[in-house]
Amino acid sequence: LLRWLREKGAHGPVWRDEEGGAVHVFSHEHAGKVLADPKTFSSDMSAAVPDDVPNFIEGSLATTDPPRHRKLRQVVTDAFTAKTVASLEPRIVEVTNQLLDHVSGGEFEFVETLSNPLPVTVIAELLGIPISDQPKFRRWAEAAITATAEAQVGEAEFQINEWVADQVREMQEYLTDHAERRRKEPTGDLMSRLANAEVDGTRLTDNQVFSFAADLLFAGHITTTMLLGNTLLSLDENPAAAVAVRADRSRLPDLIEEVLRYRPPVTLTHRLTRQDTTVGDLDVPAGSLVVAWIISANRDEQRFPNPDVFDIDRASNPHMSFGHGIHFCIGAPLGRLEARLALNIILDRFPDLALAGKPDYLAAPGLFGVQTLPLRYTEA
Ligand code: HEM
Repeated sequence: LLRWLREKGAHGPVWRDEEGGAVHVFSHEHAGKVLADPKTFSSDMSAAVPDDVPNFIEGSLATTDPPRHRKLRQVVTDAFTAKTVASLEPRIVEVTNQLLDHVSGGEFEFVETLSNPLPVTVIAELLGIPISDQPKFRRWAEAAITATAEAQVGEAEFQINEWVADQVREMQEYLTDHAERRRKEPTGDLMSRLANAEVDGTRLTDNQVFSFAADLLFAGHITTTMLLGNTLLSLDENPAAAVAVRADRSRLPDLIEEVLRYRPPVTLTHRLTRQDTTVGDLDVPAGSLVVAWIISANRDEQRFPNPDVFDIDRASNPHMSFGHGIHFCIGAPLGRLEARLALNIILDRFPDLALAGKPDYLAAPGLFGVQTLPLRYTEA
């Protein structure tokens, strides 16, 4: 379907949905141009949050435009560099082993056991919020996914039901309370930084701290949960890649990059045009919703030879799964590290790990991954 949309579809690689008015961008070239031009293609969707719900994106990094974006990103940049996240390695290994120590009896469900709790623990510890509140984070993540799903229709306003609105309010109260504590008694965690950060000489408002923290909490784990599950699915489907990686763990980064390309956890991202512009041959007026299809750009035959073949030996892999341009995923080094360390341990501990049934896919447009993945192995 993605190939058809790019090549043979009546519309070409850029297409306006006549009904919804949104502009869909399918090619690597055009998606790259959209994401590289934040002046024309804004990430600020905060006006779409209804007035009766706390504005959960008003201060987040992902939805802030330049020039403020760069200053806001600087508040947390050094916490996410490859060098800084490398220091988390022993803790990631420890948490992975502790979680897998609970496995017994030759079968386990991967998401519940590892792919969800590992990244949640890591991001909660970075933020400085107690991991014992994990059931809440899970409930809020579910609400965040629902809100995303309902916002996909291309309307100017997020469609948020009462349950989701309640979750957002609870989350706001929780994170604001933690921020308040860190203002009184700062520690070295990310929440202390956010709570006390100044941009242009003004401290972030409570709402900005809340939405920034919420963004880190969710962007920091839902995606990595998906990446881990997608990697196990890819290994199951591609036995030759599994054999190669089992034999030589230095191939893990190539495997992870190919999984990211082939099964991107985030399949698309939105922008709003600030001025009249063109994308490819299409005139796009100001105020249009533009959807950059990461999942399609990743299969673009102009950039990837045999794009529908899963191939860990690709000479280059310029996938867009972490985005492109100024909003390029700040957590990419952390997500990659968590995936590499966890997979290495999984391969060590389970020499014959295999799928034990059908996975259950998450039904949320914009996200691609499983919510349950039953696995089996032979107990030693
Ligand atoms: C941005 C994907 C892991 C935090 C993004 C974007 C994508 C993405 C596609 C760009 C969105 C856009 O341009 O509209 C992923 C994937 C991950 C992952 C596939 C899987 C491993 C993480 C982690 C964290 C994180 C572990 C944090 C701990 C963020 C933040 C942004 C972002 C804060 C916004 C950056 C900005 O606007 O400057 N991510 N992410 N992500 N990601 Fe990730």
